[in-house]
Amino acid sequence: MNPFRFQNPTVLYYGKGQIEENLVPEVKKYASKVLLVYGGGSINRSGLYDKIQSLLIGAGVEILELAGVEPNPRLTTVQKGINICRSEGVELVLAVGGGSVLDCSKAIALGTKYNGEVWDIYSKKVRPEEALPLGTILTLAATGSEMNAGGVITNWETKEKLGGGSPAAFPKFSICDAENTYTVPKDQTIYGICDMLAHSFEHYFHPTEHTALQRRLIESVISTVIEYAPKVLANPEDYQARETIMYCSTMALNGMISMGVQGDWACHAMEHEISAIYDIPHGGGLAVLFPHWMDYVMDANPSRFAQLGERVFGVSRDGKSDREMAEATIAKVREFYRSIGAPERLADYDIGDESLQTMAAQSVRYSDIGQFKKLNADDVLSILKASL
Ligand code: NZQ
Ligand code: ZN
Repeated sequence: MNPFRFQNPTVLYYGKGQIEENLVPEVKKYASKVLLVYGGGSINRSGLYDKIQSLLIGAGVEILELAGVEPNPRLTTVQKGINICRSEGVELVLAVGGGSVLDCSKAIALGTKYNGEVWDIYSKKVRPEEALPLGTILTLAATGSEMNAGGVITNWETKEKLGGGSPAAFPKFSICDAENTYTVPKDQTIYGICDMLAHSFEHYFHPTEHTALQRRLIESVISTVIEYAPKVLANPEDYQARETIMYCSTMALNGMISMGVQGDWACHAMEHEISAIYDIPHGGGLAVLFPHWMDYVMDANPSRFAQLGERVFGVSRDGKSDREMAEATIAKVREFYRSIGAPERLADYDIGDESLQTMAAQSVRYSDIGQFKKLNADDVLSILKASL
């Protein structure tokens, strides 16, 4: 494996009743004035907004608000939050929502302390060392943003969706009560499942040798997602299933399964270019891309696919070559996506071939992408064409 240093400072609270027990004591460690950041109204409808207000007001915490964070959060919204934090002397950003709200809040926390344009952080000009303290209450299992230091922001003017972050952006605390995910609609539940699977795949496919335990850990996450996805879709208020899926999403991108490996991340790079232009749900884009990416790269190391197929998808050897095993594994991946109702083609989002060249060029704007197999703009174009 590669040499690595691991540190994850986020205090994680999981389970029923954790908001009532831990929100106020955690907030009070950092602040008497908070910016409450949330999305388009799901927390108002679920009653979570009222619960949080009453807990914080009851504890004498002053609350300012930034509502209306978009899915695929926008730079303009981040800037609004930064302006409030600076002018009002906010001491902690409290994100309540899905990955978009959390990512927007991370950008606000970083941008408030950064003496320059916040976009510099996402266009990789700077890696800030300071941020306002951030706390999160997660309402959608997908991104792992609750326990990592990254975030993804869209600059709608330049049609760029870029990931960035800094160790300073780790949430100080995150509270994950799966009851708060009961109201996630079916399509968003599916996208979340696709995203956590994608994070697992991104870490599974890489050229680093001697990563046996990492692969076993990832196989466990993928197996668990495959087992529990149908349960959560059949019964959205199955607490154990919602909690298990939520825990899978946290584990898939909090650094625990990826120590010592350099993940692939080509599909994420390509998906961000699609979202930047068409504003589609991240997990949906990944579900479309992954099988086509797998077809394109499998020859780089078919035995990796064979191992995944044997251990996770029940593909039996029966005298098959590694390449035949790889093909059978990819067929199983497609079958799983289909079984949960994930999108299969870019056409499902009314995306045609009009911007493929732009997306391919932008995907490799910094360098070729991918680790399992390096992809240049022509490679990306081929994968995008196959995904139409
Ligand atoms: O805005 P509200 O009203 O809250 O509605 C949201 C939104 O419409 C809704 N929702 C969330 N929780 C709900 C709920 N509806 C009912 N009940 C609830 N409990 O779901 C919709 C989608 O929310 P969003 O936050 O956009 O979804 P997700 O968590 O999938 O986040 C996607 C964003 O995260 C980025 C993606 O690129 C995308 O911008 N990512 C962030 C990562 C990270 N920080 O580590 C890594 C990922 O790979 C990803 O790129
Ligand atoms: Zn993702």
